[in-house]
Amino acid sequence: MIETEARKEILSAEKPDPPLRGEPYLGGYYTEEEIDAVVRTMRESMDWHVGFGFMTQEILDFEEAFAEFCGTEFAISINGAGTGLDMAMMALDLEPGDEVIVPAINFKAAPLSIVGQGGQVVWCEVDPRTLQADPSDVESRITPRTRAIYPVHMNGLSAPMDDLLDIADRNPHPVHGPLKVIGDAARACGGKYRDTRIGKKGWMTVFSFHTQKLMTTLGEGGAVTTDDPELARRLRGFRQFGGETGEWGTNYKITKVQAAVGLVQVRRLDEMLAKRRRIAHKRTEMLAEVPELTLPYEPPDCMHTYYLYTCLVPKEWAGEKRDRMMQILEDEYGVGCVVANPPVYEGHGPADRPDRNILRDSTAGQTLPISDELGMRLFCVPIQPLMTDELNEYICAAVIEAVERMKAE
Ligand SMILES: Cc1ncc(COP(=O)(O)O)c(C=O)c1O
Repeated sequence: MIETEARKEILSAEKPDPPLRGEPYLGGYYTEEEIDAVVRTMRESMDWHVGFGFMTQEILDFEEAFAEFCGTEFAISINGAGTGLDMAMMALDLEPGDEVIVPAINFKAAPLSIVGQGGQVVWCEVDPRTLQADPSDVESRITPRTRAIYPVHMNGLSAPMDDLLDIADRNPHPVHGPLKVIGDAARACGGKYRDTRIGKKGWMTVFSFHTQKLMTTLGEGGAVTTDDPELARRLRGFRQFGGETGEWGTNYKITKVQAAVGLVQVRRLDEMLAKRRRIAHKRTEMLAEVPELTLPYEPPDCMHTYYLYTCLVPKEWAGEKRDRMMQILEDEYGVGCVVANPPVYEGHGPADRPDRNILRDSTAGQTLPISDELGMRLFCVPIQPLMTDELNEYICAAVIEAVERMKAE
């Protein structure tokens, strides 16, 4: 806890201008090693006998290193997690009306990938303590049409994979057998669950290397991990005009420059995560005695990556009061926060066309009271591995001050 006098002193520092972003634009950081990798691969490609190539050695090396990091047989690199999630739904060969269960507290990419393949989105609730899919709620939503359970490793923590896999086994589809469990780990690269890295458990797991993510490949990129050789073959086919499968496919590849950078980033990922975790743990110490805030929870069997530092305000502050607190943080202290994420069906449509919202309309009638409430209570405070201790302290002082202001109302 930072006492009142110390807080005033810390907050007398100049406020960040422009305000910090709740989800910073660069999630990791680059070193001279990545710059050397870019220059080297680009120089080599300037030879017209060489060019940028198709599946080059850089791409194969990166895939091998990423698979090894996750402890999986295969990693298939792709140009983004959105693409990987689409590929996951393609691999299910959904028939109209087939259902996929996905958390409502989520980014929109996973539910949109279900819709894109003609499936039916079935929302599930999350555990308010972890923000991860709630296994008992998932089980209650299974029907004979359910094909897959589609957890997101929300905000950097692992979903309860063993519980979900157990449910998938106990509730087989009448034709396709055990339900598939597919993870969206766009925000959770390098996190751990029990004795595994995120990406090992389940049928397949999708990662993002977008600029905001924990490791990045020059702005865009992603990968899918799996231990299933037939699935790996199909995924490679989707990525490169059918590949060896004779099936449909298109072009979802990354460039060799991105792969060369990814190879360095994956070697440095643990170091970047250690910095993030150190900042998160210091922050948790500084905010621990603010009873109004529920701080991120790290279960003993997980290693949280703290992609986002997610807090909850009290129930009585849900909605408008939470929003005002965030406004104070941004306007008066330059600490922008982000609500990541409210239930996906809420915010999908364009503001000027409230009648258009495919995620809301295609799931009308499903009720998610826990997610609705969490969406009004959560907010994410900026975190980045290069953040200094001084800035972390300033952010904590600002958060405490904003909480005090709300209490005094
Ligand atoms: C949970 C989640 N899933 C999927 C995506 C999509 O990732 P990409 O930008 O690599 O397509 C994101 C990115 O914001 C995300 O946060």
